[in-house]
Amino acid sequence: MTGAIRTMTFPEDDNPVTVLAGPSALAETYRVLRELGVDNATVVCGRRVASLDLLRSLVREAPTGLRISVYDLVEPDPSDTTCERGGEFAREAGAQAIIGIGGGSSMDAAKAIAAEAVQPGWTVAQDHPGEPAQIDFAPLPVLLAPTTAGTASEVTPFSVITYTKTKRKLVLGHPALYARYALLDPLVLQTCSETVRVAAGVDALTHAIESCVSKQATDQTRRRALQSIALVAPHLPRVVDDVGDVQAQEQLQLGAMIAGLAFSKSRLGIVHAMALPLSALFGVPHGVANAVLLPFGMEFNAMSDTEGFAAIAAAMGVDTAALDDEQAAATAVDAVRALATRVGAPRRMSEVGVEREAIPRMAEDAMPSAHIACNPRPIQKSDLIELYTMAF
Ligand SMILES: [Fe+2]
Repeated sequence: MTGAIRTMTFPEDDNPVTVLAGPSALAETYRVLRELGVDNATVVCGRRVASLDLLRSLVREAPTGLRISVYDLVEPDPSDTTCERGGEFAREAGAQAIIGIGGGSSMDAAKAIAAEAVQPGWTVAQDHPGEPAQIDFAPLPVLLAPTTAGTASEVTPFSVITYTKTKRKLVLGHPALYARYALLDPLVLQTCSETVRVAAGVDALTHAIESCVSKQATDQTRRRALQSIALVAPHLPRVVDDVGDVQAQEQLQLGAMIAGLAFSKSRLGIVHAMALPLSALFGVPHGVANAVLLPFGMEFNAMSDTEGFAAIAAAMGVDTAALDDEQAAATAVDAVRALATRVGAPRRMSEVGVEREAIPRMAEDAMPSAHIACNPRPIQKSDLIELYTMAF
């Protein structure tokens, strides 16, 4: 199935990424590279993506004069070491651009590698919790093609890196980390397993919900967040039921990306702050960590922004007409729990390999996250311990 490719830009969101969307959008790679004046590019991906036909043919069918090399060593939760090596690889290959293909891990690594290729040691130098990332140079231009509908890394200025020595998972954020182009190809999403589709979809929903009620939300980011929820909520169950439902994949992919436009500006909240240590300490996939924590985080926040949560409930499809804001806000949590159950998301930390003894350390590690400051309700370390305990 092929269709027209849509070109989208988002000046009203103050987002510099140009999005090309539609079935077979990945095939636009060559044209984009030509427009950028690039004749040598490095693909950054993981082993699974490297073995797919879509990647092999991208390399094999490159037009004469365009060299594409592949750095396929990105692991889930990419480490500083992986980015260091990737930067070295791209430098040695003579890459003038980086193409990240994969889920959030590969796209985040691609952004860091684009910086690392220009300035060796950049990634390691950013291991400072609570401080913004520093970039005083231009990284290589980046193209990103997501294989999951979740992270929205393709339109955000963030790169989440796990530091090997300190065992910290940090969100590096800087406007220089934005990609130039995002290629949203719904056909590429069909390569993912059901578990990955669920985790990614719940991650997207978490982005939209946390963005909507963030203290840094604006009218525009809130509009985007609600638009995202209205796309993700009905289409996630459809792609879980039928991976070949291209129309649902396309809408979900769009919804996940739109949440990225919102949270690039608004940032996130308690759920993302709490999710980081689950991945850093126990290797819980990011989306799975969010799936477990989202209802608990929402319950914690619901009464501090009843209007925001009432709007979330309505965007989820709940009929809130006869309810006041407090009642409607409570239904938002129920609607998310029902959706998570419908798509078979895990419900407890104990189901996904987290150890109870680590709760104090996890609370300690979550506190410096920049997401904490954006949460609508103030958070103490003791709140995190209580929530982790409830979610265990
Ligand atoms: Fe996320």
